[in-house]
This record gives sequence, C-alpha cells and structure tokens, in this order.
Amino acid sequence: MKVSIIGTGYVGLVTGACLAEVGHEVICVDVDPRKVDMINSAEAPIHERGLPELLKRNSGRRLSATTNLAAAVADTEITFIAVGTPAANGKIDLKYVEAAAAEIGRAIRDKAGYTTIVVKSTVVPGTTIGVVQSAIERASGKTAGVDFGLGMNPEFLTEGTAVADFTFPDRLVLGGIDARTHDVLRDLYQSFDDSVPRIETNPTTAEMIKYASNAVLATMISFSNEIARLCSAVGGVDAIDVMRGVHQAGYFTIRHGGERLTAPICSFLEPGCGFGGSCLPKDVTALVGQGRENGLSLDLLQSVLRINGAQPDEMMRLMGLHYQSLRDVPVAVLGIAFKPDTDDIRESPAFPLIRRLKEQGATLTAYDPIARPSEHPDLAGVRLADTLREAVAGAKIVLLVTRWSEFSALDGLLGELGTQPLVVDGRRVLDPSSFAQYEGIGRA
Ligand code: UDX
Ligand code: UDX
Repeated sequence: MKVSIIGTGYVGLVTGACLAEVGHEVICVDVDPRKVDMINSAEAPIHERGLPELLKRNSGRRLSATTNLAAAVADTEITFIAVGTPAANGKIDLKYVEAAAAEIGRAIRDKAGYTTIVVKSTVVPGTTIGVVQSAIERASGKTAGVDFGLGMNPEFLTEGTAVADFTFPDRLVLGGIDARTHDVLRDLYQSFDDSVPRIETNPTTAEMIKYASNAVLATMISFSNEIARLCSAVGGVDAIDVMRGVHQAGYFTIRHGGERLTAPICSFLEPGCGFGGSCLPKDVTALVGQGRENGLSLDLLQSVLRINGAQPDEMMRLMGLHYQSLRDVPVAVLGIAFKPDTDDIRESPAFPLIRRLKEQGATLTAYDPIARPSEHPDLAGVRLADTLREAVAGAKIVLLVTRWSEFSALDGLLGELGTQPLVVDGRRVLDPSSFAQYEGIGRA
C-alpha cells in the first residue's frame, strides 16, 4: 500500500521504516527539513537499534521523506498522524495533532477517491472522533465514513527496542469508525503473523487501550517503588528479592501449553529512581487531566505520579546517610537518557536529581554514552564527561541513574582508579559487595 506518515519522530520514523521494510511504499513527512534530509540520505536522526539498517535498505526505494504534506497525502492511500502530543498544564496539548488533521483535510479537499486517515499519536480517548474528525471535515468539506476512513492505531513501541517491537508485535489494536476503515487497516498489517492478536474496535476504545497500557506500567513501577521504600525502612529485606518473588506468581507468568515460561527479570516491577520518557509521565498526567475534566478524581494514578516525583528524594536520602552536606562534594551522575539504548532525554529522572544536587551545592559531572544534551538548562554548570572513567575520576559520590550496560563495569574501573566513592545505585544493577560504600534503592 502507499502510506504517508505525518511526523517523523521516535514513533513516526520507526513506523515508516518498518512499514517500508514489510513492502509498503512510505512517504515520511516532517516540518523539520533537517530530519527530512537525513532520512533521504539514509541517516537516522535518532539513536534507535536497527533503524540505520532499515534506512539503508529502504531509503530512496520504498521510503522517502518530504516537508510537503499535501503532496504526500495526495499520493497515498492511508495517512498516519504521528506528531508529538506534549503535556501542558497537566493536560495533553493536541495542537500539533489538530494542525496536522486540518492540513490533511486541506490536502484531501480536491483529492479524488477514498482515503484513510489514522491517528498513531497517543491521544486522550475521544480525540479521534472529536478533534481530529471535525478538523478534517471542516478543512476538507468531506464526511468521515463516506469520503474518507478514520482510524486510531496506537503504537506499543519501547524506545531502544522499537524496531523489534514493531516487527514482532504483542498485539495490533485497530480502531476504526466503520468496516471500510477496518478493511484498510487489516490490509496494511496483512504480512504480520496470524498468531498476533488483533483487537478490532472503535477509535475511542483504541485510544483508551493505549493509555490504560501505559498507566498500568507506570502503576507497577510506582507500586514497586513504594514497596521498596517500605523494605528500606523495615530492614533485613531487599525489594529486588521481593519483586522477584512477586513476579513468579501465575498472573505474571507466560505459560505455553503446560509449560511455565518464567520471565527472567521483573519487568516493570523494578524499583528505581523513577520512570521517565516521553510516554509514561505524560500519559498518566493526561489521563488524570481527562478524569478531572469529567468530574473524576483518579486517585490511584495521582498517587502513581506523586510517588514517581519523590523518587529523586529517595536518592538524596541515601546520600544523606553518608553526607550531612553536599556542598562542594564532587558527584558523578551516570546516565542522562531516560532509559538505556536511546538518546531520548525527555522527562529523564536525571534532571530532577541534578536540580536537587545543584540546590545542595554539589560539584556535578554527568556522563551518558549517547545522550549529550549540552544545551539543556538543567545541565548549565554541570561538567559533561566524555567517558565513564573521566566522569568518576575524583568523584566522592557516584549516582547510577540509567541502566546502561556500560555502567556494570564500574567496580573494575574504580579498582583501576584506586578510588572508593559512595555508590548510589538508582537501578539496582551493581553488586553491592564490589564496592566499599554502596547504597541502593530498596535495600535495608
Ligand atoms: C510519539 C507520539 O506521537 C506521541 O503521541 C506519543 O506519546 C509518543 O510518541 P514522538 O515520536 O516521540 O511522539 O515525538 P517526537 O519525537 O517529538 O516527533 C514528532 C515529530 O513530528 C517531530 O519530528 C516534529 O518535527 C514533527 N511534527 C510536529 C510535524 O511534522 N508537524 C507538526 O505539526 C508537529
Ligand atoms: C513505554 C512502554 O513500555 C511502551 O509500551 C509504550 O509504547 C511507550 O511507553 P518507553 O517509555 O520507551 O516505553 O520505555 P519503558 O521501558 O516503558 O521505560 C519507561 C521508564 O520506566 C524508564 O525511565 C525506565 O527506566 C523506567 N522503568 C521501567 C522502571 O523504573 N522500572 C521498571 O520496572 C521498568
């Protein structure tokens, strides 16, 4: 099929490149000419595993990019909206989605024949058949369900493994206003294995599935962090062991036939210095905001956010066990990206932690293997190290914030440097016995 994708960020570009890989002809559209040029030169504008190879194979053949939205829409059968949906004042900001919908509407005004428009961006339930449908209808003078199809097909891509997540999806959620839209979506994903569950539903349910999916992950993380705090307070109990025990329960275990395939790690039950990223904090905030607008107080989800917001304080508390004052204490912050294997720093837990450390007068160095956002306001006055060695040399406190695999070599490196800083493990990936001074989230 001929597909256009409006917005070539983390989600839009991975979606476009993967759809090209399975045989579709894809035009990516973005307002940013730098991204467009890079995609056309088969260069990945973001750090995402597998993406450079996909671009090399498909760019200039089945994948191209342009800033010309109208031409891309005119030339394709299905158009995805994958622009960002930032949070503003505790609510989702739909201005980019609405602008994209209106521009698509103008583009289909004179287009002959039927076309299908599908929302990929994460939007609060009701947006597709509300904001998006009316913007398209107003700008095009056409009618949804008659002249064009309208759908909502959320993404379940985790940054760092987004290409694999797209290629081997755990589910396909296909929301459509009518049978014809569903037919188009079914065709688009035809090449995917029949064993992948397809949930065919209306757009509002599809939107809610996406939000509920992210909200449950955020809830599990905050749940783990709350239990971890209690473990620390009680003493003699380690939250990691507790969560491993919890994770063995039948309701967290994948069974295949009679066989029990236990996941090796407590995925989403890992206590730590908090969840970040472009999805979990924003999406839970948006749900709470939508609840408020509907006269509902979503108490559980408000607590999820509150607990998450306090995780940097837990890191500060652990430092406080060893240092009465942090004034002029050299502190190394390991990890700026919100999670490993990405250069994405949006809502990274590193920033609230750095702000607290600055307030306390610490002398800060930060290091990340990939993310180097030197212009970020929270990094003003923070030395950015080029290597892990440079970051920790001379540090009195080392804070592990992001689960990069490179940081597991910290014990050997400190041995070589002959230093014994306090290590505060915000991700519980280090072996406590390898360090002279160690604190970790969720330990006594
Ligand atoms: C996506 C989803 O759209 C968002 O709803 C979800 O919650 C997370 O994933 P993401 O791909 O991470 O967002 O966003 P971003 O990396 O910011 O990319 C958005 C792209 O859209 C940018 O390249 C931006 O230049 C482009 N854009 C934005 C347009 O082309 N037109 C616009 O009007 C606005
Ligand atoms: C998430 C969802 O996983 C994905 O399905 C959805 O499509 C988009 O949102 P992403 O934000 O890329 O993906 O990363 P994720 O792996 O969910 O991690 C989010 C944050 O939670 C990270 O800061 C991570 O460090 C933290 N986390 C994750 C924990 O603190 N504990 C855990 O057990 C898991």
